[in-house]
Amino acid sequence: MQVYQRYCSACHGPSGEGNGLAPAAAYYDPSPTNLALHGAAHAAGEYAWQIKEGNSNSAMPRFQGKLDEDAIWSVVLYIRHTLADEHVAEHKH
Ligand code: HEC
Repeated sequence: MQVYQRYCSACHGPSGEGNGLAPAAAYYDPSPTNLALHGAAHAAGEYAWQIKEGNSNSAMPRFQGKLDEDAIWSVVLYIRHTLADEHVAEHKH
């Protein structure tokens, strides 16, 4: 969660909904993925890979070398469990 808030939320939004506060985030094309919505749809290994490699066709940075394995895997768990679960909870109202 600390990793997420520090490195990811500016673009992906505080709760992962793709609405980050970075002024530029609204203009990225493609825009930052709604991680809460994707949530558990992707395998953990797939997320870890995307975070390490980034996406050269978009604003998604490469975190290989910036975050260690532990940090990457904890952020993957945070996306798949906490963010996705909160999203589901919100839409139950
Ligand atoms: C500078 C803005 C920015 C930051 C910072 C950022 N991202 Fe992204 N991210 C993006 C954009 C833009 C995309 C959309 C890429 C695409 O669709 O090709 C994306 C896509 C992704 C995807 C792919 C989702 C999918 O289902 O295809 C994952 C996973 C992801 N980001 C995780 C993270 C994590 C974890 C962090 C923090 C360690 C992070 N991002 C930081 C901009 C950012």
